[in-house]
Amino acid sequence: MAKYVIKKSNKLVPSDAMKKIAHVKNKNIYKQAAKNPIKFWEKLATEGLDWEKKWTKAYEQKLPYFKWFKGGKINFSKNCLDRHLENKSDKVAITWVPEPTKEKTIKLTYKELHEKVCKFANVLKKHKIKKGDVVSIYLPMIPEAIIAMLACTRIGAIHSVVFSAFSADALKARIQDGKAKILITADGYYRRGEKEDLLTKARRAVKSTTVNKVIIVPRLRKKIPTGRKFLNFNKELESAEPNCEPTIVNSEDTMFILYTSGTTGKPKGVVHDTGGYATQAYWTAKWNFNLHDDDVMWCTADVGWVTGHTYAFYGPLLNGATTLIYEGSPDFPNPGRWWKIIQDNKVTVFYTAPTAIRMFQKFDPKYIKKHNLKSLRILGSVGEPIDEDAWKWYFKTIGGSRCPIIDTWWQTETGGTLINALPGIGPFVPKVSGQPFPGTNLIIVDEKGKQIKKKNVVGNLVQVPPLAPGMLHGVWKNPKKYKDTYWSRFKKYYDTSDGAFLTNGGLIRITGRTDDVMKVAGHRMTTAELENAITDHQAINETAVVPIPHEVKGEVPVAFVILKHKIKDQEKFEKEIKKLTDDKIGPTARPAKIYIVEALPKTRSGKIMRRILKALLIDEEPKGLSTLLNPKSVDAIKKIIKTKK
Ligand code: WT7
Repeated sequence: MAKYVIKKSNKLVPSDAMKKIAHVKNKNIYKQAAKNPIKFWEKLATEGLDWEKKWTKAYEQKLPYFKWFKGGKINFSKNCLDRHLENKSDKVAITWVPEPTKEKTIKLTYKELHEKVCKFANVLKKHKIKKGDVVSIYLPMIPEAIIAMLACTRIGAIHSVVFSAFSADALKARIQDGKAKILITADGYYRRGEKEDLLTKARRAVKSTTVNKVIIVPRLRKKIPTGRKFLNFNKELESAEPNCEPTIVNSEDTMFILYTSGTTGKPKGVVHDTGGYATQAYWTAKWNFNLHDDDVMWCTADVGWVTGHTYAFYGPLLNGATTLIYEGSPDFPNPGRWWKIIQDNKVTVFYTAPTAIRMFQKFDPKYIKKHNLKSLRILGSVGEPIDEDAWKWYFKTIGGSRCPIIDTWWQTETGGTLINALPGIGPFVPKVSGQPFPGTNLIIVDEKGKQIKKKNVVGNLVQVPPLAPGMLHGVWKNPKKYKDTYWSRFKKYYDTSDGAFLTNGGLIRITGRTDDVMKVAGHRMTTAELENAITDHQAINETAVVPIPHEVKGEVPVAFVILKHKIKDQEKFEKEIKKLTDDKIGPTARPAKIYIVEALPKTRSGKIMRRILKALLIDEEPKGLSTLLNPKSVDAIKKIIKTKK
């Protein structure tokens, strides 16, 4: 494919070659869809999916609630698998690359995946899982993850996937909130050449919960514990029947919950439906990444995140494409690993996060040059704003100036992408996500909810109903949280909690979160979660956590603590704090620095001014000190930061 040339305007338009193969190339699609978004999605849902029964009403809304394809009946796994069997049964559905280089890559065809899913669905049934039950899944990036997830959707059970790097405590909290009856996990997995244990964490997590069966994938061939509670995934699968009639569900029935961080300390279970989610997953995967039959898509996200759900698994499978998943670390056994995977498997669509791109920028370019990356057609970015430097590096060094970069803005809550350029329409501009997906409407408003139409003025990014079909339908068993989080600030609009502005070209540029959510190496967490974990230390009275910019990770948390009493060994103390965040959340939550302070800057009503702490950390002059209850605390903290640098 021809090379693009970056001009002074920094704006790229699709090449003729890309236009030729693009599913959508006429920008009128945006206007047409906007005329009647409901009709537009209705058409897409009809064309893209197999329905058992057509809906009686395409969209119904009583804000903050809404329904897509009401009365429609569907089975999700059938749309990912059965419908491809006629023409694509021998096509590879999943290519799995294990981390150890001496282990072989495993390919599962649609037929094979279908059989395994049906069998595992029967295993779930045998253990009394039925429609509407919650199944917790705590698995690394191995094919059993998608087998387990699709098996749930086959029988209408609700899956709740928990990131494998999360701690036992974090898993337990999610199991308890979802009241899961069963946990599917593994004995462990490989990470940077080491065997990571999963089972110990899983066993600790299920104690005193509703989980009565733990099905374990013997990835590391460890001995599986015996007893009625613990079962071997492979043995269960072997003895299961290969036929399983799909359970037909309502379009608006819950398909999965996925926990994410909100402004308060407790993670919330984001609820996604079946038909609406499937529609958005199918079409965004198809149009954003221009998926065709010969595509091999590699989305590097872990299944523990929504990106893993929608673009490592469901989007490509709904489209009958081939998806590649990789178990391990990007730089193992050397920083050329990812590029070797692309070369060996002729990956055409590559979708990753800015934090990974920035990491690779730092390695010796020889690891990239050694590999042939000519199979790549499209590059994607997700999870946080991508800076111009990383964008250009990704574009030139990985994409060979041939591949457009699709910078997709979305959230766990939105189920699928919402703002990005389409490969056949463009434009592709560094730092700019683009425009809302056809048939969706996102605008920028001021604090009062009034639309800001002026260019280059930062405001709040909100979604205007009718909401996109992939949007969340609630917070699991917590309607108040749903209403408060997304619908209290701007009653008529869905509040994304992101800041954004319109560029001169009228495109959307994201500036970042406007709440206490931070993005550490692409992982979403809140200051409150970390503060709660750290304040559990017996010597600590109070904690404030603030994120500061980091070259590779985007942001890292820094903690300020007030002690109850003197501590003897500072080093030991810091280790204990890191252990607390490891145990309560996971290693990504470790504070990069810990400062012991006498007092935290607070407003007269007692609110900690994290903004001021952040300014001090990044060497900016803090503003608004006059409103503080204890302005003297600021100078003291300034000194402490200086001495510890
Ligand atoms: C938050 C959502 C998107 C799925 C994976 C992350 C930030 C996401 C972008 C982007 C700038 C982005 C936002 C958003 N974000 N994509 N392309 N440019 N910021 O989902 O963990 O729920 O996080 O990630 O701040 O609100 P998530």
